[in-house]
Amino acid sequence: MTTPTNKRIVLVTGATGKQGSAATRHILALPTSSPTASETDQGGGASVQQPVEWHVWALTRNPSSPAAHALAKEAERNHTSDRLKLVQGDLDVPASIRSVFEEAADEEGGDGDGGIWGVFAVFEYPGPGVKSDREKHQATALAQLALDFKIHAYVYSTTIPAGPKPEDAIEPAHRVKVQMQEYIQKELGPKGLNWIFLRPGFFMENFDGRLGPLCVTLFRDCVKKDTTITPVATDDIGRVAAGIFKNNELYIHKIINATSGPTTIQEMIDGYQRATGKPIRTAPAFLVKSVVRFNATPKNIIKQVERNHEARTKTGECPTFEAEVALAKSICEIRDYEAWTRWKIAEGEHGKGEEDHGDVNWNNVSIFKLFTGRS
Ligand SMILES: NC(=O)c1ccc[n+]([C@@H]2O[C@H](COP(=O)([O-])OP(=O)(O)OC[C@H]3O[C@@H](n4cnc5c(N)ncnc54)[C@H](OP(=O)(O)O)[C@@H]3O)[C@@H](O)[C@H]2O)c1
Repeated sequence: MTTPTNKRIVLVTGATGKQGSAATRHILALPTSSPTASETDQGGGASVQQPVEWHVWALTRNPSSPAAHALAKEAERNHTSDRLKLVQGDLDVPASIRSVFEEAADEEGGDGDGGIWGVFAVFEYPGPGVKSDREKHQATALAQLALDFKIHAYVYSTTIPAGPKPEDAIEPAHRVKVQMQEYIQKELGPKGLNWIFLRPGFFMENFDGRLGPLCVTLFRDCVKKDTTITPVATDDIGRVAAGIFKNNELYIHKIINATSGPTTIQEMIDGYQRATGKPIRTAPAFLVKSVVRFNATPKNIIKQVERNHEARTKTGECPTFEAEVALAKSICEIRDYEAWTRWKIAEGEHGKGEEDHGDVNWNNVSIFKLFTGRS
């Protein structure tokens, strides 16, 4: 006879993308576990005493897309397919997401009351310089649904603001996240939304793929030599997210910055060389300088990076980088660029690892867009 389990369904948005696929992978990898002491103390009925089993409902607009297939294939390889469900929905159409919550509510499990137990919320990058009204509408509607359906943990993946003032968020994609955090904290938190903000640093994947050489050269040649940046691998964002869901009570109404800690671009370049035995790919300096001259996006990236460094290492306006990541690092190890590069090589040799999410067009930024500034 099999032991009955307490099924916890986490709805992951952006599940076919970089962060969402990583969160899916790591949530599904969480072991079936006993409930925590405080859960059993609540005396909340038989289901609370049962082992917790983690399920992911992966939201996509198209469950037949190659990215959705890749997600399903990965779960198959990891023997977790029985706990992954691809669900169709469009964040621009809140009714389609409500249907997903309603469908889940009819399921057995979920701490005895069925339904979606947690949400990992990621919203697509709109493109450089593009107004983020879409994220505003999508994030408002999803957070409201999470409140309506009394979700236990609503993890919103946002971003680390460059400084304490709203105007420190130069790029619209950053600004909207700052606004949404404020809205959720002030409006929905007091009404009972169990929000948690997961704020990742600059993705290590930005230094990969077609645009990687441009990115490396931009940071090497256009940012001050001693300026530190705080990168993070999206796989580690997923690992932190899974850790948050596992012990959600510890993190309700907390802000968790996920980065590998401060590093200079030169330290990353050296780390890459040590890991691969090869120099990192760079772009011709004149090309990168032309991109910077003609386009606001790289200029804004440079401005934000310098501001970020200044606010944390010079003016004392923000906690230090090390203090900011302490909570995330208490959840799990977060790899530096060298360790992540070594991991990717090892996983590649075994034919496993991350599926390729968006090499050609990272973050909706194509080389064309970078050159022309058009989105
Ligand atoms: N790059 C960085 O350094 C960095 C740093 C911090 C934060 N961020 C933030 O990270 C976010 C992007 O995360 P990511 O790179 O992991 O995403 P991504 O790889 O670009 O994937 C985007 C995901 O959004 C889904 N999606 C798009 N429109 C949708 C809609 N209308 N309804 C439902 N799903 C939709 C797509 O799913 P389907 O196509 O399958 O529907 C896809 O899974 C952005 O908000 C960005 O500002 C980026």
